[in-house]
Amino acid sequence: MTPIFQTSTYVQNAPGDHKGFEYARTQNPTRNQLQDALAALENGKYGLCFASGMAAIDAIVKLLKPGDEVLATDDLYGGTYRIFTKIFQNYGIKFRFMPMHDPTKVAEAITPETRLIWIETPTNPLLKIIDISAISNLAKGKQILTVVDNTFASPYLQNPLDLGADLVMHSITKYLGGHSDVVMGGIVGRDPELKEKLSFIQNSCGAVPGPQDCFLVLRGLKTLHLRMQRHCENGEKIAQFLSEHPRIDKVFYPGLKQHPGHEVAAAQMRGFGGMVSFVLKGEDLKDALQVLRRTQLFSLAESLGGVESLIGHPATMTHASIPKEERIKAGLSDALIRLSVGVEDIEDLIEDLDQALIK
Ligand SMILES: Cc1ncc(COP(=O)(O)O)c(C=O)c1O
Repeated sequence: MTPIFQTSTYVQNAPGDHKGFEYARTQNPTRNQLQDALAALENGKYGLCFASGMAAIDAIVKLLKPGDEVLATDDLYGGTYRIFTKIFQNYGIKFRFMPMHDPTKVAEAITPETRLIWIETPTNPLLKIIDISAISNLAKGKQILTVVDNTFASPYLQNPLDLGADLVMHSITKYLGGHSDVVMGGIVGRDPELKEKLSFIQNSCGAVPGPQDCFLVLRGLKTLHLRMQRHCENGEKIAQFLSEHPRIDKVFYPGLKQHPGHEVAAAQMRGFGGMVSFVLKGEDLKDALQVLRRTQLFSLAESLGGVESLIGHPATMTHASIPKEERIKAGLSDALIRLSVGVEDIEDLIEDLDQALIK
């Protein structure tokens, strides 16, 4: 097993003559192993790990300068919306949010200032699907970076670099860690110039993870394929169960044939994952809150991607930082419930939802 190099510094031979490691903000052997593993999983040339998914996003936006513009999908993690609009907008970077299921609309939205296109697919929490290669093609040759937040799919189901993206970003906290015991972020890419810039930002700004956490994620990665297989199996069965349930109005899951992004998802993903969102008939907040209170195996909590099933209410939890008008415009109703389907026995999970849905 990779040792945990619990050290902040390394003994040097002589001034200017070190043994490959100087100071642990810059390099740490345990972190290096994890960074290489991430690069391999995403078919990239390098990986970089950060203290959280947000710190990874922060590093990517720091590639830009005042006046640059980012086009971002309108359905995305609330924290990403918050760092864009509440932090980086103050530094003169512009952000425009739009639906991205139609690449021609994205092409029309590109301006001479556009420098980055931010994609999440499947999106959080509405599981919208964006065609990664169609959007990446629009950006090619225009000095526009395409970045994909691949947190929901994990590299087991989708490899954005192979589809033409420049960078892939992960909240490692989720499926990669897999056990709800670590907060961490990662970036993987291929271009050496971008690697140099991002490593400089990683070292200069210093949001690096500790070696113990890197060890835990290395351990989590060993079962990524097994966990993802079960997340997908359980996710599909639960989406099917919900879509046939008399109390349910809409189910958001890209594996369902009626999902508008199903064909693109089937082409760019190797499975449909374990995230399922739904709304009850009547879209009544009180009904939704009752379901959220009643589940017993699905624990009410923020986050996703761990082996244990979670249930959440995006409007008041993960996406509370998005103003209500923006949320509603993107289709995120106050009555939406989001499930992170874990790896437990499927009959137990369905039984739990069934009892929580009794009127
Ligand atoms: C899709 C997505 N991206 C980024 C993040 C941020 O990651 P972290 O919580 O590790 O900072 C999250 C967290 O929920 C997320 O769901």
